[in-house]
Amino acid sequence: MENIKFIDLFCGIGGFHIAMNEACEDLNLEANCVFASDIDIHCQNSYEDNFKLRPYGDITTIDPKDIPDHDILFAGFPCQPFSIIGQMKGFEDTRGTLFFHIANIIKVKKPKSFILENVKQLVGHDSGNTLKVIMKTLKDLGYSAKYSVLNALDYGLPQKRERIIIVGHKDPILFSYPSPIRPFKPLVEILEKNVDKKYFASDYIREKRKQAHQSSYKISIWHENKSGNISSYPYSCALRSGASHSYLLVNGERRLTPREMFRLQGFPETYKITKSDSQAKKQAGNAVPVNMVRAVIKKLLPYVAKSVDMSEVIQEYEVNL
Ligand SMILES: C[S@@+](CC[C@H](N)C(=O)[O-])C[C@H]1O[C@@H](n2cnc3c(N)ncnc32)[C@H](O)[C@@H]1O
Repeated sequence: MENIKFIDLFCGIGGFHIAMNEACEDLNLEANCVFASDIDIHCQNSYEDNFKLRPYGDITTIDPKDIPDHDILFAGFPCQPFSIIGQMKGFEDTRGTLFFHIANIIKVKKPKSFILENVKQLVGHDSGNTLKVIMKTLKDLGYSAKYSVLNALDYGLPQKRERIIIVGHKDPILFSYPSPIRPFKPLVEILEKNVDKKYFASDYIREKRKQAHQSSYKISIWHENKSGNISSYPYSCALRSGASHSYLLVNGERRLTPREMFRLQGFPETYKITKSDSQAKKQAGNAVPVNMVRAVIKKLLPYVAKSVDMSEVIQEYEVNL
């Protein structure tokens, strides 16, 4: 079986790692993570518990030459203030931002391919200049790169979570983003049956919610926006690591349990979740939706693995012409 080596930068709890394992399994390939990095000790613990690999810490402190060779680089880099990159002109000027460290690793290690993920706001940041610098930097490194904003809701998960996904390859390739997969999983398959009473909002909050809003759905997740407006949908709004306690409430009554949050991000039932509820919320809120990036990886792997039949990819390309 062909072995595909990958590295997992800003790995968090391993959304890319799971997606890569699953995509490779589907295509009869062996996924081999040769390096991971995350500065957060709790993420490192969760990652090690699940993948038997302890991530390296701060990526800014490693010499890229010390990172093992790999075929694919994954990086869900933090949505750091991009203002610094935005005003600058090119690769050298992006120094000091975490993106620079990714670019530098690509420059030194020259993986065949990479997938970068960030919040969708990156697209419009500084009137599009920030993204322009990022794309130019990647192209100047010799990669053909493109980006698209994808929504987890379009890839089988009941969560509206839009992310920019940048895909790059050493060679010019016919890569196209995966078409939406419908329907998304119904909430009833995500929600737990017997939920501890500690997850229920106070009578006061529940009463206030019900006075402010009536849902059109039997099962829904209620969302409170910054101005206090309540809406509800048969799916969840984006999980957020730092959101207030009652930001999302199932049927306007209770918070999501850690397992429910991990399910909303496409993590399998076998994933071991940290015991602390607050860490679990933070980790799930920061993670990349597994189903969404798995679909992207599956479209990319034929260009990375020698043993995957390209005829399907070419046929699909011709159909879309
Ligand atoms: C948006 S999250 C990525 C989550 C990941 N994709 C997942 O599925 O869990 C960004 C991660 O970058 C990590 N991080 C921030 N600064 C870092 C640094 N200097 N070196 C390594 N990791 C860093 C954070 O701890 C956080 O877990």
